[in-house]
Amino acid sequence: MDTDHVNKDHAQALIRAEAGVAALAARRSDRWYPQFHIASDGGWINDPNGLCYYHGRWHVFYQLHPYGTQWGPMHWGHVSSEDMVTWRREPVALAPSLEQDRDGVFSGSAVIGDDGRLRLFYTGNITIQQRGENHAEELYEAQMLAEAQDDDARVFTKRGVVVAFPEDAVHSDFRDPKVWKQDGAWYMIVGARSARERGQIWLYTSQDLVSWEFSRVLYEHPDPDVYMLECPDFFALRSDSGGMKWVLCFSAMGSKPCGFMNRNANNAGYMIGTWEPHGCFHPETGFRLWDWGHNFYAPQSFEGPDSRRIMYGWMSPETSGPVPVQEDGWCGNLTLPRELALDKDGSIRITPVKETEALRTSQYKFGKISLGAEEQLIIAEESAGTEIEMVIDLNSSTAERCGLKVHAGGQGSYTYIAYDDQIQRIVVDRQAAAEGGRGYRAAPLSSESLSSGRVALRIFIDRGCVEAYINNGEQVMSSFSYPVEGPGKSILLAERGTMEIESLTVHRLRGIGLS
Ligand code: FRU
Repeated sequence: MDTDHVNKDHAQALIRAEAGVAALAARRSDRWYPQFHIASDGGWINDPNGLCYYHGRWHVFYQLHPYGTQWGPMHWGHVSSEDMVTWRREPVALAPSLEQDRDGVFSGSAVIGDDGRLRLFYTGNITIQQRGENHAEELYEAQMLAEAQDDDARVFTKRGVVVAFPEDAVHSDFRDPKVWKQDGAWYMIVGARSARERGQIWLYTSQDLVSWEFSRVLYEHPDPDVYMLECPDFFALRSDSGGMKWVLCFSAMGSKPCGFMNRNANNAGYMIGTWEPHGCFHPETGFRLWDWGHNFYAPQSFEGPDSRRIMYGWMSPETSGPVPVQEDGWCGNLTLPRELALDKDGSIRITPVKETEALRTSQYKFGKISLGAEEQLIIAEESAGTEIEMVIDLNSSTAERCGLKVHAGGQGSYTYIAYDDQIQRIVVDRQAAAEGGRGYRAAPLSSESLSSGRVALRIFIDRGCVEAYINNGEQVMSSFSYPVEGPGKSILLAERGTMEIESLTVHRLRGIGLS
């Protein structure tokens, strides 16, 4: 490989990409542009990539299409932060420039090598247009390596393919390498659509991060409808009592909706189980969703320097119906960073990282509130830029549904986040949304939560999205919510009965510095 030439091509592709983002940013409308969620200043983003802590900064890369607000040839965008609260934009990190990544620098992960240098592993994508009856596209995907040249992770040198496309064994999709080190060896997992079109996760090992050996199929999804497992992730979690479990995560393509489950086009979740190096994964639970909202996909986790397991997800737009934000010069944002912890009862708690509290600038404590049947109470004139903490006392409430309308504005539009006593779930209902996709999502509550008679909600409301953390991370729901122009209130509401609120605080939040 003529390295000088390769680097020059890449540098030029990056300059073009920066100009593409800037052109879209120049005509951006901010009506729904997030204040405290990571988004590109212009262009489309999807999956979080390359999450890491390197030389004193947190780094978040993401799939970026710099030339439009739809998915397109993928690059890696980049932001970094010293404290996970205030972020700064970094130059676009990776662009298509080699034959093997000519149609996209797809998702992947970051590790710090034994020499202390940051490595990015990504999928180089080539799209082959088939001439068959249905003109189906076939993907030719290989796992590739890029090395950081500086401590700020601003300049990367591509090192080419490290795991070739296994033509005979996979149908077409083979992507999203996640790399980690354990007991002196490097491991990589890759999502695959097998030759029989089954969703699989493949395991590789390496001593030097460059030469990789196939170990085994770590996991095959039992559902024959599931043909591809995107963005696999695999890590151990230890509970306070010392128990250790392995968590296998993937974004499953092809699973059918079933009741409240799997309502999104594709659905991201995990199973908890056991694993010994080189063995296959033994699940001990069924598939659990990471997030029950309308807009969540392709999460990635990493381990912070303090051993916290932190996850970002992509708030993915609907695949059917309108995506009004695409008129605005940008599309897509990440969730807040979330800490994952294994609870005593063997379940995973998902809470916003504690740094998120530093976004609070002022607060108003309401204390106890009693709401009569069909009564409403405005608790914030402007929803956007707030975090609402509230505890509903279910034992003393009689309402069929009770909760909070957010982004409540003109023409009676709002998004409703409520406890629904008929199904005993937390609901995010967009029936009255001003714009964008509608429909509702309903997250379950554990029997312990229900018998405790309390529901604690922590709701983050940005300009165009909401995240609701239920009962200290028992479940999370992330959904877009596009209000009309003008103030969008937050209003308490009790339907067909009363609501007793034990405590309620409205925090005003500041932005994360990426406006
Ligand atoms: C998931 C995904 C990945 C792929 C990337 C391409 O959203 O399809 O599998 O690497 O997005 O942008």
